[in-house]
Amino acid sequence: VPGKLADTLARPLHDLRISVTDRCNFRCVYCMPKEVFDADYEFLPQEELLSFEEIVRLARIFRGHGMQKIRLTGGEPLLRHGIEKLVAMLSREFPDVDLTLTTNGSALKAKAAALKAAGLKRVTVSLDSLDEATFRKMNDVDFPAARVLEAIEVADAAGLAPIKVNMVVKRGVNDHEIVAMARRFRGTGHVVRFIEFMDVGSTNGWRMDDVIPSSEVIRRIHAEFPLEPVDANYSGEVAERWRYKDGQGEVGVISSVTEAFCSTCTRARLSTDGALYTCLFAQKGFDLKTLLRGGASDAAISEAIAAVWQRREDRYSQIRTEATAKARKVEMSFIGG
Ligand code: GTP
Ligand code: 5AD
Ligand code: SF4
Ligand code: SF4
Repeated sequence: VPGKLADTLARPLHDLRISVTDRCNFRCVYCMPKEVFDADYEFLPQEELLSFEEIVRLARIFRGHGMQKIRLTGGEPLLRHGIEKLVAMLSREFPDVDLTLTTNGSALKAKAAALKAAGLKRVTVSLDSLDEATFRKMNDVDFPAARVLEAIEVADAAGLAPIKVNMVVKRGVNDHEIVAMARRFRGTGHVVRFIEFMDVGSTNGWRMDDVIPSSEVIRRIHAEFPLEPVDANYSGEVAERWRYKDGQGEVGVISSVTEAFCSTCTRARLSTDGALYTCLFAQKGFDLKTLLRGGASDAAISEAIAAVWQRREDRYSQIRTEATAKARKVEMSFIGG
């Protein structure tokens, strides 16, 4: 694939993360706190969502700029009606693109086989704790961890492995579960990634004190199960990899707060309503939907995307302070993790 696009920091466009719905059936305290996302919260009306045809058309244009990887996110992507149809459309169009999806696992048991059949390569499942009381406190809708674990097994059996399991670590809430999570997935072929709690959006009440640095995560696991570092799978990989010295697999840490990885950030994000965001912490996006629906040609849309990317200077995690953390930013459920 050609595509010589580079931003002001010489970063190419490698990943496209597509949010297919802004809705979620969980109310994770660090993402969609109940006080904000309550019964009166107005989610996007159906007509504001990009259609599957619109998503595929944009993906084709991004492909022309060198995009190699697509991740479907949300909100909760499996809540989007007919999601397996979108997966099939994308996998047919881009057989060589790494096509994956990040889910909370609640509907995965029902959908795993259909997603695999549609051409999905892997899944990433969020799971913040094995302990029921702790997990329910984090998802805030009383969803049982046992059902997410069961979904992981079903997805594995359906051929969506190796599965990555994302755990957002929040001090005093679930950090006592770090070693238990590592233990549970050692030897299964699945990879737990411990994510530093981030100040995404402006509703999750982020404080630096709530962050457990990845170095501490590694120290705690290492004390029980000795670890050694592993090279990245590819340049720009978000997670730093560590493997068990006894050969029982690996874990990852994602350290957006203590060790920013902006210098290799090659991710473009497409919001549920069709705007292009060049950073997870952006305040606004570039409206592609209006172009799409206004009859713009592929060439014109392609040029608009190129212009946005070439102007891109985002490096939020490198310049984060307590003050920027309080600024208004787009909610994560709207542009995806
Ligand atoms: P794979 O390597 O294919 O598994 O993809 P990935 O590492 O991108 O994994 P995933 O999409 O699951 O990302 C894991 C988590 O890392 C996300 O849910 C976010 O919390 C965080 N993350 C991903 N991309 C970024 C980014 O560009 N900036 C920041 N600050 N955090 C990110
Ligand atoms: N900090 C870190 N990770 C987060 N995620 C959602 N909100 C945050 C946050 N504030 C993660 C979820 C999931 C992915 C979609 O993003 O745990 O794995
Ligand atoms: Fe939903 Fe994922 Fe956000 Fe939790 S982190 S509220 S599961 S979108
Ligand atoms: Fe990329 Fe923005 Fe995350 Fe930095 S903070 S890695 S620029 S998305």
